[in-house]
Amino acid sequence: MIKNIVCIGAGYVGSPTMAVIADKCSEFKVTVVDINEQRIAAWNSDKLPIYEPGLDDVVFRNRGKNLFYSTNIPDAIREADVIFISVNTPTKTFGTGAGRAADLQYLEKTARSIIEYADSDKIVVEKSTLPVRTAQAVSRVLNSNTKGLHFQIVSNPEFMAEGTAVNDLQKPDRVLIGGLETPEGRNAVETVAGIYRHWVPGERIITTNLWSSELTKLVSNALLAQRVSSINSISALCEKTEANVDEVARAAGFDSRIGSKFLKASIGFGGSCFKKDILNLVYLCGYYGLPEVASYWEQVVAMNDYQASRFVGNMLSAMFNTVADKKIAVLGFAFKADTGDTRESPAIAVSRMLLAERARVAIHDPKAMVNARHDLADVENDVLFCEDPYEAIKGAHAIALLTDWKSFRELDFKRVFEMMEKPAFIFDGRNYLDHDMLYKLGFNVYGIGRKPLTHF
Ligand code: UDX
Ligand code: ADP
Repeated sequence: MIKNIVCIGAGYVGSPTMAVIADKCSEFKVTVVDINEQRIAAWNSDKLPIYEPGLDDVVFRNRGKNLFYSTNIPDAIREADVIFISVNTPTKTFGTGAGRAADLQYLEKTARSIIEYADSDKIVVEKSTLPVRTAQAVSRVLNSNTKGLHFQIVSNPEFMAEGTAVNDLQKPDRVLIGGLETPEGRNAVETVAGIYRHWVPGERIITTNLWSSELTKLVSNALLAQRVSSINSISALCEKTEANVDEVARAAGFDSRIGSKFLKASIGFGGSCFKKDILNLVYLCGYYGLPEVASYWEQVVAMNDYQASRFVGNMLSAMFNTVADKKIAVLGFAFKADTGDTRESPAIAVSRMLLAERARVAIHDPKAMVNARHDLADVENDVLFCEDPYEAIKGAHAIALLTDWKSFRELDFKRVFEMMEKPAFIFDGRNYLDHDMLYKLGFNVYGIGRKPLTHF
């Protein structure tokens, strides 16, 4: 019987997951620990460190009852029956595999703290996304302890998406749990499955061997990103042929074998997972001597980079081949709506390309201003950060809409048009606004993968 669940790493993945476990399993004490004191203080405050719809309610109703946030890692480890590891595993920036392989130093440090402080056997669950076969390394580090302790490693990747994390956790399509095919391994998988069975129907809990589970996480993200790159590649062809990419995606997606989801053409995918996980997959394929497989997946990232530069190229050619000294209002900096997260957001690359063209860039995002300032810290003097969208728009030659925030549809576009320099341009990187309405108001409207609506 388990009583104490601990999660090491209070980030975007670990904290929401633990909040939902605490909410659904009142008999467990759930403790989330982190080395970052500021982050833990924020999780213990009225203003949580991440914006995620519905998360405040879940945290506030369980915090202090059976959900705790702490920096006391030693005590938490000692007390734990099950330890989830949810530390960051960014792409390596140095040495072998730089720019592709996962940087596993935080993971290994965590494993080493577990053996330093543990004084009983434990189940250790990999929640962070990791290269396939990492569990073997983690198991070797943990089981090298000289205290005679035994650790079972279980892989339980998280599939929630930001912005819908709470709903995804409460009603997951599936929960995946992988373990070793030994009696102890099967027991550990069963224990972790028992946590989820509190609220997830049994048929949605899938158990596999360790390596399938680790690889499935990378593959799921790669397949999703591949769909976005596939439709984005077609958006370029649509712009040349006057086909409309949204019509193409809709009509193709009606085929139940293709399916309609994740076929929305856009400025490109961002987020902490897609690029990192594909590069990780590419590195693994190279490592295992499969260069053709590696280059196949590498194209998904290359197409994504191309989409952002193509977008800026379209802006330039529409605006008479120069944006130098023109004010451009960048609306939306988060990598998607309903999150303040800007990791790998295409808005970063687009803003930098516009700055390189010497445009005056004014940025507004309803939730991501702090992160935007951080991402552009090295060029902050060249950028205007605006809390109010109309301040960003005032006197602008063009609007670049980069995130599909609902509030952008609610702007008073008549007022927007009046405030802008003429001819007024809107580049809608999400095909999110009502283009016919904007055109009628006088804007020159450029979407993704569709014919521009211009007054020239
Ligand atoms: C993703 C996976 O969906 C999730 O299962 C995994 O656990 C983590 O990675 P996330 O990155 O939070 O989640 O967001 P997601 O909704 O997948 O969107 C990723 C990016 O793709 C966003 O920038 C989004 O705008 C873009 N996207 C998505 C498109 O451009 N078009 C689409 O049709 C779908
Ligand atoms: P994710 O999106 O995967 O949740 P984040 O970067 O948001 O990633 O969160 C990872 C968290 O893990 C960070 O808050 C970081 O401080 C924490 N962390 C990293 N290494 C350790 C460690 N050795 N012990 C405890 N926490 C750690």
